[in-house]
Amino acid sequence: MTAIVLDGRALAATIEDSLRAEVETFADMFKRRPRLVVVLVGDMAASASYVKSKAAAAARVGIDADVVRVPATTDTGSLVALVQSLARDEQGPADGILVQLPLPEHVDTLAVLDAVPPDRDVDGFHPENAGLLSQGRPRFVPCTAAGVQRMLIDAGIETAGRHAVIIGRSDIVGKPLALLLAAKGTGGDATVTLCHSRSADLPTITRSADILVAAVGRPGLVTADMVRPGAAVIDVGINRVDGRLVGDVDFESVRKVAGWISPVPGGVGPLTVAMLISNTLLAAELRHAP
Ligand code: GUN
Repeated sequence: MTAIVLDGRALAATIEDSLRAEVETFADMFKRRPRLVVVLVGDMAASASYVKSKAAAAARVGIDADVVRVPATTDTGSLVALVQSLARDEQGPADGILVQLPLPEHVDTLAVLDAVPPDRDVDGFHPENAGLLSQGRPRFVPCTAAGVQRMLIDAGIETAGRHAVIIGRSDIVGKPLALLLAAKGTGGDATVTLCHSRSADLPTITRSADILVAAVGRPGLVTADMVRPGAAVIDVGINRVDGRLVGDVDFESVRKVAGWISPVPGGVGPLTVAMLISNTLLAAELRHAP
C-alpha cells in the first residue's frame, strides 16, 4: 500500500478562500477589518518564521495583522502589562491577541497567557476556553488541534467508533485534540488513547490505532512497525534536522504502510495558520454579536 498524502497547503488555500469572503462581509457591515495582534518575544528564528506565516495569511484574507516585538529580556510583569494594554484597544481594535510560544525561560508563560482576555484568545489557551472545549461547547479551539480534525474531515477519514491514538499530552495539541476527537459529532465520536513519555509499550498501542497522531517533537519517533496497515497517520511534529524540516514520523517508511499520511512541511502546519485566521474572524464577529 502507498498512502494518500494529505495536502495541507491545498486545504488551507480552500479555507482561506471562504474566509476571505466572510471577512469582506464583516468589513462591509462594520466598516473596519478584523485585527490580529501577535506578540513576539526575542528573536528565535523558528518563532519569527511562524509569526511571519501568520501575518501573511491574515493579509491574504483581508485581516489586519500587527506584530509587536519585544526583547528576550522582557520580564513577566512587563509582558502581562503589554497584553493588558493591547486589550484596551489603544492602538486599534485587537480582536485577537496571540503570544507566540515558547517564551524565554525566565518568563512565567501561564501568567502571560492568562492575561489574554478569553474573548480575544484566538489560540484557545485560556482556561475559560479550555474549559468550554472540555464541556463540549467550544469557542476558540487551539489551532493545531482544530487543523488536525479539519484535515481528517476533509479527507473523509471516519472517526466515529474508530481508535484514535495521540502521542503527546501538551495543552497546545494533544489534550485539546483528544477532547475534539472524543466529542460528539462530525470529526468526533472516536475512542481516544492519549499517550506520553511514560506510556508503556507504545508500539503495541499505536499498532491498534485507526488514526495515529504524533505531536511530540522527536524526529523519527513513529516508524513503519508502529503503524497498522491502512491507518491514517497525522504528523504534527516540526523538527529541524541538518537544516531540513521533518516531522515526528519516518515519512518514507510509514507511507508504504499507512492509508493516509500528512507530510512535513505542507501538512498540518498550513492548517494551523488557517484555523488561527478563522478564530480571529470569529473573535471579531463575537465582539459585534448582540
Ligand atoms: N508555538 C508553537 N505553536 C504555537 C501555537 O499554536 N500558538 C502559539 N502562540 N505559539 C506557538
